[in-house]
Amino acid sequence: MTTVRLPGLIDAHVHLREPGYTHKEDFYTGTAAALAGGVTAVLDMPNTIPPTDTPARFAEKAALAAAKAVCDVGLFVGATTDQLDAYLPIAQRACGLKIYVSETFGSLRIEDLGLLHRFFRTWGEKAAEIASDTTHSPLRTPHSALGPVAVHAEELMLPVCLNLSHLYGVPLHVVHVTRRSEIELIRRAKEQGYPVTCEVTPHHLFLSSDDAARLGARGDMRPKLASPDDVAAMWENLAIVDIFATDHAPHTLAEKAQATPPPGVPGVETMLPLLLTAVHDGRLELDDILRRCVENPRRIYGLPAQPDTFVDVDVDARYELSDAGQLTKAGWTPFAGQSVYGKVEKVTLRGRTVYDGHRILAEPGSGQLLFQSV
Ligand code: DOR
Ligand code: ZN
Repeated sequence: MTTVRLPGLIDAHVHLREPGYTHKEDFYTGTAAALAGGVTAVLDMPNTIPPTDTPARFAEKAALAAAKAVCDVGLFVGATTDQLDAYLPIAQRACGLKIYVSETFGSLRIEDLGLLHRFFRTWGEKAAEIASDTTHSPLRTPHSALGPVAVHAEELMLPVCLNLSHLYGVPLHVVHVTRRSEIELIRRAKEQGYPVTCEVTPHHLFLSSDDAARLGARGDMRPKLASPDDVAAMWENLAIVDIFATDHAPHTLAEKAQATPPPGVPGVETMLPLLLTAVHDGRLELDDILRRCVENPRRIYGLPAQPDTFVDVDVDARYELSDAGQLTKAGWTPFAGQSVYGKVEKVTLRGRTVYDGHRILAEPGSGQLLFQSV
């Protein structure tokens, strides 16, 4: 047994489903699952019902998170065709702006170039306005008044977003990159000084299209599992992957058994053991995890440090991931049956033991909502 003390991990991409889909997950069950996975802060996506696209809807979601969360939570606002950029007055309270440019779960998809122009332009103008306002100190550290524009942009939509970000000078964060062509384009854009960062999920690092038939609907998500060559490209280009984040997208097994199952897989509580197993196998170093699950998300989104916050993990403990072992309300994992190293023994958040390796000890509402003090 070798217990290693890590800082609390940040999962910069989760879908906690509240409001509107609480049969899949809610702020309590999703953040409890996060703690069990050694994650002490999550950034929650806006494709709920209603979507998080106006100040009132943001306030409604923030109140739900504040009442129920057991780890810290940041909330994205989302671009929608009917509310447009109505979120701008509370842009500072969001961890970033999410734009779905490719097919996903739910109705938030923007395919109109004119609208995309507008979202990048107004987000950039808002950031400039906040940066020039010296009457109150900025919420974020260190460089940006607002979080990035985070895009789900596959294939040809990726260069569209890269160019809009470049033209408007707005930092772009590309979520769940999966293809060789995409990661190589991002590499080139970084070399050319574009303001771009990117993230890869554990399922796109550890599964490929070769697993799709075996997994069926449990292996169906957007972007889809990619070819083994695409997966190899993620590993070859790890140096330019800024963040590992899960795209924790819980759906029930009953929904996954339907004729047209919703895409998405849970992941927030399996990320750390999967990554530690890669360390055990010599494919990663511990520092690779800390950079991508703590330091870079903190820098990219300007997240505050969490004092006295650690995860004690037995990196030698070997066990099998199982559906029954998951705290997510969805109650399953695409990695069921897989043997992993790394058992979370204890999670301490701001000096309090919030998970003891078996049970959640934190009360609902003890997690903090990020960026709310303006
Ligand atoms: O598979 C996915 N499911 N990809 C996404 O981008 C969204 C997610 C969801 O919300 O279920
Ligand atoms: Zn997502």
